[in-house]
Amino acid sequence: MADKEVIESAKEHFGSLLEAQLKRIDGLKNNQDWIDYSSAKPIIVGILGGDGIGPTITKEAQIVLEHLLADQVKAGNVEFRTIDGLTIENRAKQLKAIPDDVLEEIKKCHVTLKGPTHTPEQGDGWPNIESANVSMRKELDLFANVRPVRIPKDNIDWTFFRENTEDMYALGSQGINVTEDLAMDFRVITTQGSRRILELAFDYAKRTGKDKVTVVTKANVVKTTDGKFLDIAREVSEKYPGISWDGWYIDIMTAKLLDTSRRHEFQVLALPNLYGDILTDEAGQIQGGVGTAGSANIGLRYAMFEAIHGTAPRMVNEGRDQFADPSSVLRAGAMLLEHIGFPELGSKLHKALDVCGQYERKVVMTGRNTGATSRELGEYLLNTVMQPDLEERWNRYSGIS
Ligand code: IPM
Ligand code: MG
Repeated sequence: MADKEVIESAKEHFGSLLEAQLKRIDGLKNNQDWIDYSSAKPIIVGILGGDGIGPTITKEAQIVLEHLLADQVKAGNVEFRTIDGLTIENRAKQLKAIPDDVLEEIKKCHVTLKGPTHTPEQGDGWPNIESANVSMRKELDLFANVRPVRIPKDNIDWTFFRENTEDMYALGSQGINVTEDLAMDFRVITTQGSRRILELAFDYAKRTGKDKVTVVTKANVVKTTDGKFLDIAREVSEKYPGISWDGWYIDIMTAKLLDTSRRHEFQVLALPNLYGDILTDEAGQIQGGVGTAGSANIGLRYAMFEAIHGTAPRMVNEGRDQFADPSSVLRAGAMLLEHIGFPELGSKLHKALDVCGQYERKVVMTGRNTGATSRELGEYLLNTVMQPDLEERWNRYSGIS
């Protein structure tokens, strides 16, 4: 094709992306209210096992959640549902990020607990369909990816508010190869999308007695989109006079998380999608590995809870899936409990995870046969969460009493 034609066809593609994004913004301007779980009876919790190590680790979280919510299930207040079909085999067969019938089942649930799902990339043998995670986040408008990382003994208590529907992810499957040599992707940052995640971060800080929010961008280089995110942060911060905020660049931020003399000073961090993806893996590693970190994908109507990590194909290929650490999905389960209105059960599960994973460590995961299996850790956790002196032990270890 002649250059002129190539450019015209790229412009046409770009034009259709702009139309879709402007329409999305119109939708964001008419946002509804948050769902109220106290009027949902039963609250429906869907369980999706996913791929790779997903089914193994998700099963452990399901066992613990079903145990903690047993009375609520009996009373008809909560219902668990297993949803099949969100596997890479089925997604590849249907050439869909989320098959229609699976999405329909997901939409019948209030919240879901999801195992990691394989995300194809060019040349890996699977059709290069969109990530199920990314698609679910966009489809259900789960705009906030909340990822807590806590290391009580080091005084670390970070909560990341990762924007979850925009940035490089919004059009990650809709870039263009303009010519054989020129590939372009598109980054999307909107006023409405930035404001809602920043407001949630500042609200959380206010509600939980924190006094600082750190906003992470690369606004010195990526001037337009990160510049907007930072401008909105400035605007939102004015509504929270008791909370100070500072802006950090993503590069120095990744370094500062390793600075043991300063890192405990960070409390609430708000950031665009891709920086949030990267920084939270680093934070998870500092906590003891990405296998220890969970996340909540929250929207006004739906919410999905999952590990922060992927399907660990290396573990599966080497036959080590039974040694995968289920702590990540269990953390996600604790967040699910807090989210649907059982904060005490959620806190209990968080504490059991701290006691088992950071303090007593009677069962240690190494990811291979030198350590425990997922089942063994699940059992250890379930026993610990049931012990009446859990609270007292956690307080003692954390230096609270
Ligand atoms: C995460 C994961 C996903 C992401 C992948 C699996 C698409 O890394 O939840 O952080 O990039 O968001
Ligand atoms: Mg990630």
